[in-house]
Amino acid sequence: MSTGTGGTYWTTQALPSVLKHDLLGRYIPQFGGMTGSRDGRVVYLDGYAGEGRYESGEAGSAEIAMRVADQHRARGLRWTCFFTEREAKSHARLDDVAAIYRRRGVDARVHHGEVDGVLDQVLRTAMGLPLFLFLDPCGLGLPWQRLTQALARRRTPRRWPPTEFLMNFSMVAVRRLGGNARSAKGLERSSERFDEVCGGRWWRDFFPAGQGPAPDADETVAAEYARRLAKATGMLVQWIPVAKAPTHKPVYYLVFGTRRPHGLWVFGDAAARARDAWWEKLETTEVESDPDALFPATSVIRPDPKEVTDRAVPAMADNLERLLRDGRPVKLVDHTLEVFGQFYGQVPETAARAAIKRLHRDGRTPSTGVGPKVRDLVVEPPT
Ligand SMILES: C[S@@+](CC[C@H](N)C(=O)[O-])C[C@H]1O[C@@H](n2cnc3c(N)ncnc32)[C@H](O)[C@@H]1O
Repeated sequence: MSTGTGGTYWTTQALPSVLKHDLLGRYIPQFGGMTGSRDGRVVYLDGYAGEGRYESGEAGSAEIAMRVADQHRARGLRWTCFFTEREAKSHARLDDVAAIYRRRGVDARVHHGEVDGVLDQVLRTAMGLPLFLFLDPCGLGLPWQRLTQALARRRTPRRWPPTEFLMNFSMVAVRRLGGNARSAKGLERSSERFDEVCGGRWWRDFFPAGQGPAPDADETVAAEYARRLAKATGMLVQWIPVAKAPTHKPVYYLVFGTRRPHGLWVFGDAAARARDAWWEKLETTEVESDPDALFPATSVIRPDPKEVTDRAVPAMADNLERLLRDGRPVKLVDHTLEVFGQFYGQVPETAARAAIKRLHRDGRTPSTGVGPKVRDLVVEPPT
């Protein structure tokens, strides 16, 4: 199983990375802003950091975090950032990028080696502080025990401090290992390595030896992995697919975990906006590669964001109405998944405000949907 980034990976940002980086760049500043205000400190680990910056000059995950840390530093919030990278060449490039930010006062600590070797140091540094883990391997990630211990570890007896993660779960690896498990010539060691990542052999049931896999066995394994992660860590876990093209199967899932209702809300909003950035990039790339085309194929298949929102708003208004049947006020952020329903991660938070306004217009709530932060809006039951 390849875990490196050969070829042209670092030439320029590929389409899946557009979504990944847009999401990361939207989410982590909010994580820092929300959780860092108490102590003025946040700890961050990018465990599979890569080179930090593409040859094209676009920021990779590491530089995205360093930029956020730099911006927050100016506002008095200190990020302690750990970056680990196994490949010597990538590590050297990463360190050059980090040096730029260190000169600006960012605490960017770059380690050459395995993420596993640095994790304990990260956890010690994060004692009593908010911690965000970004784990983005090309293939298989951390073993289950290691990951769940790091996430479930009570770093203080109280709920504070928060730990959150965003993780790449490779669907390419799942399909390849599924094929390996089914084949008589499959390598047992490869399957055992995936057992370690999944915390058991359960995934093999979806790829029975000598038989064709169940349809969508790969998706089922990903969903089951996320469900087990939620159970083992007590976190709210969500995941979104990331593909190379509109009709393709996902190359990976981005799996997100939080214990904060606000985290769940912000992630859904960021995911919807990042999906839009993915479509934008696809369209721009098409126009660049065929400037004479009358209109790019993407513009035909791309779901019109307005149409999606037009479908989402009445459905979300109905969701809210169901929640109000208890006769108690509903604070949006406390009911993120119920409010968005199937549109979670598909539409931005503005759709929730529009849903309240629609209810109000129809006389189904006295609440107007007016207020500074959508997630903090409270919807009153009808009188
Ligand atoms: C998908 S790339 C990272 C991309 C980067 N996170 C980004 O979004 O810009 C994965 C990187 O992890 C590195 N890597 C693989 N296994 C590793 C490990 N166990 N510890 C640290 N780095 C590892 C690879 O060399 C590669 O550079």
